[in-house]
Amino acid sequence: MAEIELNPAVADRFVHLDWQHRDADRAAFDAGLIRHYEAGDIILLGNPPFRIDFDLLNRISFPEGRSHQKLTDRFLTRPKLHRPAIRRLFQEVFGFDILLYARFRREVQRLSDELRRFACLIAPSYRFLKQGVSWRFTRTGPEGLHVDYFRRTEDLHYLRIFINVDRQPRIWTVGPRLQDLIERYADEIGLRELVDRPSNEVCSRLNKLVFDKINAQPRSAMDRHLVRFAPGDVWLCETRLNSHEIFSGHRLVATDFYVDPSSMHDPALRVDARVDDCLRLATADPVRAAG
Ligand SMILES: [Fe+2]
Repeated sequence: MAEIELNPAVADRFVHLDWQHRDADRAAFDAGLIRHYEAGDIILLGNPPFRIDFDLLNRISFPEGRSHQKLTDRFLTRPKLHRPAIRRLFQEVFGFDILLYARFRREVQRLSDELRRFACLIAPSYRFLKQGVSWRFTRTGPEGLHVDYFRRTEDLHYLRIFINVDRQPRIWTVGPRLQDLIERYADEIGLRELVDRPSNEVCSRLNKLVFDKINAQPRSAMDRHLVRFAPGDVWLCETRLNSHEIFSGHRLVATDFYVDPSSMHDPALRVDARVDDCLRLATADPVRAAG
């Protein structure tokens, strides 16, 4: 189970849910889980329903570097081996052990599909537009605190489920919520001019103008929680709403599921709407707002 060192100066939005309690009332459990997720909480799921072949997965490491940092299940299970660079990469990782690769491929496919089914189970109302699953087999971190953002301008809900499939803990630091960052830095980095602009512009500006400076300083420059996710831990976190940093970690599987926001339990909680609300609040004339 995850060990959390809470920093009292940062909002605590960790929520512990135990999958074993689901049987008492499955619909209520699932609704509660999604309600917490849409609220921006970080959900730690106790007794998760996933089988993981740690022995097998922990035999695999990909070379360091950003190009191999995040690999889709499709890339891993159906590699384009006619491309020399990809063939070389797979030879470097698996040698000529065809049996090892065959087992690895089955495990990646199985767990990726389990995650897709799991998401449909806990969020039956969600209309998934894309159910991407990504795997990491490179050592990561410390990468610096940041908020995630989409490169493209899309008003989408995002369901992110993480499983630490490594034998070692995965360590994150978790900083302020997006809404607190907007409130705190609205003046300093000119966020007010981004009202009605897509949320990714706000997130990107926070990363460039706030976090880049903070990450160049000692960790104490910004208050944060420290979380050690144990091997096999499962957590759900909207990584646009929660600033975070991979402090260290190696093997991980994560979902990149895009959801039509109109199918959320509460579409008003989607990231674009939240950012819009925060910016309007930050921009409101304090006298009029008080009246
Ligand atoms: Fe991130």
